[in-house]
Amino acid sequence: MKIQRPRGTNDLTPDRSPLMRFLHRTFLDVCDRYGFAQVDTPIFERTELFTRAVGEETDVVSKEMYTFDDRKGRSMSLRPEGTAGVVRMVLENSLMHGGGNLRLGYWGPMFRYDRPQAGRYRQFHQFGVEALGSASPAMDAEVIGLLVEVLGHVGFADTTVELGSVGDACCRPAYLEKVLKPVLKGLGDRLCATCRDRAETNPMRVFDCKVESCKEALAHAPRPMDHLCGDCMAHQERVEELLTEAKIPFKRDKALVRGLDYYTRTVFEVHYPALGAQSALGGGGRYDRLMEQLGGKATPAVGFSAGIERILIAVETEKTVEAADLGSRGAYLVLLDAKGEAAATRVATSLRELIPVEVDFSGRGMKAQLKTSNAKGVRFALILGEDELAKAAVTVKDLDSGEQVTLPESELKEFIKALG
Ligand code: HAM
Repeated sequence: MKIQRPRGTNDLTPDRSPLMRFLHRTFLDVCDRYGFAQVDTPIFERTELFTRAVGEETDVVSKEMYTFDDRKGRSMSLRPEGTAGVVRMVLENSLMHGGGNLRLGYWGPMFRYDRPQAGRYRQFHQFGVEALGSASPAMDAEVIGLLVEVLGHVGFADTTVELGSVGDACCRPAYLEKVLKPVLKGLGDRLCATCRDRAETNPMRVFDCKVESCKEALAHAPRPMDHLCGDCMAHQERVEELLTEAKIPFKRDKALVRGLDYYTRTVFEVHYPALGAQSALGGGGRYDRLMEQLGGKATPAVGFSAGIERILIAVETEKTVEAADLGSRGAYLVLLDAKGEAAATRVATSLRELIPVEVDFSGRGMKAQLKTSNAKGVRFALILGEDELAKAAVTVKDLDSGEQVTLPESELKEFIKALG
């Protein structure tokens, strides 16, 4: 019996890997230009890190974590997201020593046990950035701009950012106690049992409930954005001004709900509606209290993460990336006579200084090998058969123009170079 991959996971098959590499290169390049250094953290961490950072009552922590005891009985979890690990790393390595401006980027697998569907997986990949040390709305706008720029480079030039605010330690407690809790109490049995519990312990989480009757009951419930303090409103307005100035389209969305508890003030998401229910390509926000919650000094911070599989689906659906963008197109060496293996290796080695070259050592006939070279989308097929070997020559077929020429092996490199 064949063993299949676990539900909700994906293989990266070779047909998709050029696009994945293109996205990765694009992300790294944009990060470099904004001064974000690449970091990596463990795929598993102590469970407590996520309970404390993301929030015990969030779906991500309470329902979706892959948690296990290690051999010494310590509770570990596969990371469901990247921010908690990055902040832990910053604290553990004293990277914020002296405060300042720390800009970090990351790319890697995350794990959430949820019902798989299009765009929602149990193992998925995120790229993201975290900027620590600045409370300025300009940092929020820059981080949003970075995400929009990455998406622009992979062909999504007209994405709209949904932007909201969840308030801060100054305005949120009053909103929760004096506004939201009484409203939730009034809704009584119209809310599901979980929401009724959350109404007491973590009221804002009710907005994340997927139960239809709760969504209806909460449709007109007051949101944090209706009750921001002056500083939070000024922050929000400044982020909006800066985005407008940078010509980044956004929509104020006072009902924007994020599934993680650590946010303060700015929250945002970028959607690709054609993906249906799982349409968020990326999301993030400000989390000025998280460093403190994890035992460090109060440090303002803002960041985002984007779903790599979702972006790949969007790029493939819209065909926004040309094959030509996916890397330099090389040559496929069609070897028709095993006696020519040494010559094939010599030709390939010399040409690889200019372009990628793949040698077909399969021993198949010309037709089959040419078919493969066409399928690979290379620019040149180089043919080494009995005739060519006898003359120390190579036949070059330009697969774009269809033109074919046989020339001495010694002239091949110059010939290819001249064709650019
Ligand atoms: P998040 O909204 O939970 O935020 O996830 C960010 C992105 O990851 C989503 O917009 C989506 O594209 C992708 N994603 C999430 N879950 C899945 C899944 N099950 N399958 C496929 N893709 C998924 C965070 O993770 C925060 N750490 C963002 C952040 C960084 N906030 C501040 N800094």
